[in-house]
Amino acid sequence: MSSQRARRSNLAVPGSSPKMLEKAKGLPADQIFMDIEDAVAPIAKPDARKNIVAALNEGGYDGKTRTVRVNDWTTEWTYADVIEVVEGAGANLDCIMLPKVQTADQVVALDMLLTQLEKSNGLEVGRIGIEAQIENALGLINVDAIAQASPRVETIIFGPADFMASINMKSLVVGEQPPGYDVGDAYHYILMRILMAARAYDKQAIDGPYLAIKDIDGYKRVAGRSAALGFDGKWVLHPGQIDAANEVFSPKQEDYDHAELILDAYDYYTSAEGGAKGAVMLGDEMIDEASRKMALVISAKGRAAGMQRTKQFEKPEA
Ligand code: GLV
Ligand code: MG
Repeated sequence: MSSQRARRSNLAVPGSSPKMLEKAKGLPADQIFMDIEDAVAPIAKPDARKNIVAALNEGGYDGKTRTVRVNDWTTEWTYADVIEVVEGAGANLDCIMLPKVQTADQVVALDMLLTQLEKSNGLEVGRIGIEAQIENALGLINVDAIAQASPRVETIIFGPADFMASINMKSLVVGEQPPGYDVGDAYHYILMRILMAARAYDKQAIDGPYLAIKDIDGYKRVAGRSAALGFDGKWVLHPGQIDAANEVFSPKQEDYDHAELILDAYDYYTSAEGGAKGAVMLGDEMIDEASRKMALVISAKGRAAGMQRTKQFEKPEA
């Protein structure tokens, strides 16, 4: 169930800003993540924890996935982030995002801490999910083990800014492109590696931030690339990026209609009434079981986004 949450747009909100935590309630993002990590200065982290607990308990994020990004395990803050947030607002929280995950052990450690907190606070054990951010080479080469490290893992997230820094790649995240080099190539391996782990273990694959927040065309281009590969959503750093994410990660109406049509048509043609055929022509297109599988993916994304079909399948006259 949880891996089916809508996550087309994942809005980053610094936990240090009660104003932004409040504003996020009214924005059309599928998911909100309240940050205690890199968008919050070290001296502001204790207050950020408190602001987040207050905002979660106050509520108003109805229909949105509520995630808190804690600091990574190499810092001195992680345990206190998790304890304060889950003890304070565990019942009103869906996931903890763990940044800079490098090994499966780091996920296991978070899982164990969450289990104890759930038990000691009367919360349902195992309900709080984990979102694992892959932000360096070690994390990427361990991504398969990370995806399987706990049943709580719901998403694998690409963190391009930290990743580029960690592998000494020139910063491409703001959209500029060295001459003669297609920026798409730079990310392709990383995105595909993350996508394979996510698909192999039934997790969602999420693309990270696009830093040039005023460049909506650039956002759509970069988001369109990960959407085309099969990613489920992308971060948004500014309200202006939300509509673009929701649009890019939803199927187009015509594709959604076509997918539903294929499902109905295939259902009919494989039935005794429809002639028990395994491969048939639907208009100019040959459809078979693999077409049904592709259609199921688009249909699931469309339904999760609340889309309605505009065309019905009509059985051919006998
Ligand atoms: C996100 O955390 C990133 O580093 O890109
Ligand atoms: Mg990062």
